[in-house]
Amino acid sequence: MSFHTIEPAKARLNRSELAVPGSNVQMIEKAAKSSADVVFLDMEDAVAPSDKEQARKNIIEALNDIDWGKKTMSIRINGLDTHYMYRDIVDVVEQAGSRLDLIMIPKVGTASDVYAIDMMVTQIEDAKGYQKRIGFEHIIETALGMQNVHEIASASKRNESLHFGVADYAASTRARTTIIGGVNPDYSVLTDPNEDGSREVHWGDMWHYAISRMVVAARANGLRPVDGPFGDFSDSDGYIAAAKRAAVLGCEGKWAIHPSQITHANEVMSPSISEVDKANRILEAMKIAASEGKGAVSLDGRLIDYASIRQAEVLVEKANQIAEN
Ligand code: GLV
Ligand code: MG
Repeated sequence: MSFHTIEPAKARLNRSELAVPGSNVQMIEKAAKSSADVVFLDMEDAVAPSDKEQARKNIIEALNDIDWGKKTMSIRINGLDTHYMYRDIVDVVEQAGSRLDLIMIPKVGTASDVYAIDMMVTQIEDAKGYQKRIGFEHIIETALGMQNVHEIASASKRNESLHFGVADYAASTRARTTIIGGVNPDYSVLTDPNEDGSREVHWGDMWHYAISRMVVAARANGLRPVDGPFGDFSDSDGYIAAAKRAAVLGCEGKWAIHPSQITHANEVMSPSISEVDKANRILEAMKIAASEGKGAVSLDGRLIDYASIRQAEVLVEKANQIAEN
C-alpha cells in the first residue's frame, strides 16, 4: 500500500438512487414509501423553468413534513451557470437543512465549482447552527467534469459520491446517440468471416471508459461511484444488465428514474448469498493458511492470496452494511 491513506466517505447504502421531480407532489409522496436507499428531489433537468420555484417550495415542504424513515435524502440543485442555483441552496438548506443529507451538484466542471458551493453551504450551516454536515454528490456528465474528475473528487471533505450522468455526458462529448444509457448498435465490431463467410456483430459498451475512469477517481478518494440513468424503464432486462456491468466495474449503485427500477438496483448491487459464502470461505482458508505460515493456498482449484482477503472483505463488509440497515 501507499503511505498515503484514503479516508472513506461516510458509509451509506447507495444501491438505488431514485430521481424524483420536485414539481410532482404525488411522485414525491410515493418515493417516501419506496425501497430506494437514496432519494434525490430534483430541481434541475426534470423540472421546467416555469415550475422551478414551485418545485423548490414542494421540496422544502416534503423534507420537513414527510416521514422519510431511514432514507438518505438529497436534492439536485440547478447548475452553477444558472441563476436558480443560489436560491436552491439558500432556501432549501436554510428551511429544510436538518433533514437533508446530501446535495447533488449537476454538470460539475472544476474543483472551484465544488469550492463555491462548499462555501455557501458552510455559511448557511453555521448561521443556522446545524451540527450535521451536508455531503456532496457530483454528477460527472460533461467533458470538462471528466477531464477534472480527480480534482473534483478531492475538492471537499463533504464529497461522498460520483455519479455518471450518461445523457448529458453524451451531449457534452457529442456522442452519436439520443437514448439515455444502454447500448448502441453502432458501437460494435465485425468478426473476421467464418468458414461459410458469415460474420458476427459483437456489441460493446460505449460507456466503459467513462465509468471506469470515474470509478478510479471515486475510489482513489474514498467516494462511492454510482452509475446514472437508464431511460428505457420498460426494459427490465436491459436495466439489470447495465446495473450488473456497472457493479462489475466497481460501482456501488445505480439511479432509478422509475420506481420499477429500484428493486433491480437493490438486488444487483447487493452481493448474493453465494458470493458472500465464497468470500467467507476465502477468509477462513486464508486464516488457516496464515496459521500455517503460508501466504497463498488453493481453494476450489484456484489460487488465493492476501489480495483475495481484501477482495473478500469488500463483499463481507457490504453484506454486513445491508444487514444492519
Ligand atoms: C443525468 O443527469 C444525465 O444527464 O444522465
Ligand atoms: Mg444530466
